[in-house]
Amino acid sequence: MSAETFYVTTPIYYVNDAPHIGHGYTTVMGDIITRWHRQRGEKVWYTTGTDEHGEKVLRKAQANGVTPQEWVDKLVEEEWRPLLRTIDAANDDFTRTTDLRHLEGAQAFWTALNERGAVYQGSFTGWYSVGSEEFVGDDDVVDGEGDDEGIKVSKLDGSRVELISEDNYFFRLSDYQQKLLDFYEANPTFIQPESARNEVISFVSRGLRDLSISRSTFDWGIPVPWDADHIFYVWIEALLSYATSVGYGSDRERFDEVWPASIHLVGKDIARFHAVIWPAMLMAAGEHVPHRVFAHGWLLVGGQKMSKSKANGIRPDELVDTFGSDAYRYYFARALTFGSDGSISWEDINARYHAELANGFGNLASRVAAMIGKYFGGTLPASGEHTDAELTVVDTVVDAVRDADAAIEAVAPQDALAAIWRIVDELNGYITSQEPWKVAKTAASGEGNAGDRLATILNTTAEGLRVLAVVLNPVMPKASAVLWESLGAEAALGALADQRIDAVAAWGQLPAGTTVTKPASLFPRIETAPTA
Ligand code: MSP
Repeated sequence: MSAETFYVTTPIYYVNDAPHIGHGYTTVMGDIITRWHRQRGEKVWYTTGTDEHGEKVLRKAQANGVTPQEWVDKLVEEEWRPLLRTIDAANDDFTRTTDLRHLEGAQAFWTALNERGAVYQGSFTGWYSVGSEEFVGDDDVVDGEGDDEGIKVSKLDGSRVELISEDNYFFRLSDYQQKLLDFYEANPTFIQPESARNEVISFVSRGLRDLSISRSTFDWGIPVPWDADHIFYVWIEALLSYATSVGYGSDRERFDEVWPASIHLVGKDIARFHAVIWPAMLMAAGEHVPHRVFAHGWLLVGGQKMSKSKANGIRPDELVDTFGSDAYRYYFARALTFGSDGSISWEDINARYHAELANGFGNLASRVAAMIGKYFGGTLPASGEHTDAELTVVDTVVDAVRDADAAIEAVAPQDALAAIWRIVDELNGYITSQEPWKVAKTAASGEGNAGDRLATILNTTAEGLRVLAVVLNPVMPKASAVLWESLGAEAALGALADQRIDAVAAWGQLPAGTTVTKPASLFPRIETAPTA
């Protein structure tokens, strides 16, 4: 098993519509986690992309009077790729299920499974939800209410279902019920958090039916290689994109280097596909199963799951245009608990932006640089002897970095930021209690060792800022780069992205004599934030 590459994926997103912040959420969290791991010195591969086949996308294209290929090409270029720039994602790959490498890899996979006897032909009559592209068992179909009065809906997610009858190919999923239950038992961290794990185990315990893997009533999909009248069911090829994008079916050496995935980040609504169908497919093919599936909660707006169909979808650029990509990334990581549902609001973003970013962090950075400018002509002074106050700063930094690292390991970015903010608070408190402006007055009158004391205080705060620039770089790369520059750290210590998390807390890295300049305001106040 390859432990060499830390391979993280987001779901590949349906291109029936433009992205909303629910999609941006997973991609940003994955980006923070992978940037952090890169700064731990690990080999990282981070993939996102688009899920372009299936009936949902086809119907949307038809409704817009274009071919599905035209529809997906336009949306991917005009909306989905630009999203990554908007939210400042540093993904290594962007995979499309209409790519040839994916088609060939997916066909190779199912050909192998067919040859191993895991597939048979049959006919299917039952319920299908186009909204979630899911076959729904009779037991999970209920009468709809409200807007869905008179319509059958899926109990699993409330989406509308239709009765379909088709000749299909089936995968012997039912053979994997016990194997999966044994696997969950032996690998307690495979599906997280606990709530998702419990749901998956109870779903599988209720029994697994064989899964239809093909559709034959429309043709927007990947042809089944041994029967041209069928295309693959969208989910069983979409899941494969995690493998085909890293070489499955085209470059076995590369695949073995990267596979299995370290973490599949998914929303809780699609945890079942990733924790049931996907491992069963891989087991059937004799491939390694991913290490972890982490299911996050939903973004709620006004108490409701945000979605395009409910018309409460907020576009990521609506927020980024006002607050910037750094604050956007910070907000979703800090204000929500990854793994639980969480409410978001414009007021909350605005409040956190000003209290935590502008006043808490941005102000700290500019005050320290301004004082070094004023009292030492912009040259970092050497530290004198540490007193208890400096030792407390150093201890706080060591503990906070350790806790933040453990939190990222546990896929809990909110806890990582809470830990890092202990450094921000400690430095602000330290400046307040040490009153460098008073020490400067005493120093100016030539009294005692005040000059030395002033140097110690400002050296300590600059060192604290150095640590903040490094540990906040995965979350807020733009502001961190400005801070790094202002500390003159690039010349002394090298590129910010090369700074290692495991070495960051070692004290005294910024050499005395470094030129410190006042940074442009990291988080300028936003006077007229609109309320949306
Ligand atoms: N195409 C499938 C995934 C295939 S992965 C092999 C799909 N696409 S999706 O575009 O409908 O959803 C992608 C992700 O967005 C899911 O993880 C889903 O949970 C997430 N979100 C959609 N709305 C969301 C919120 N309101 N809040 C948080 N995440 C949300 O499913």
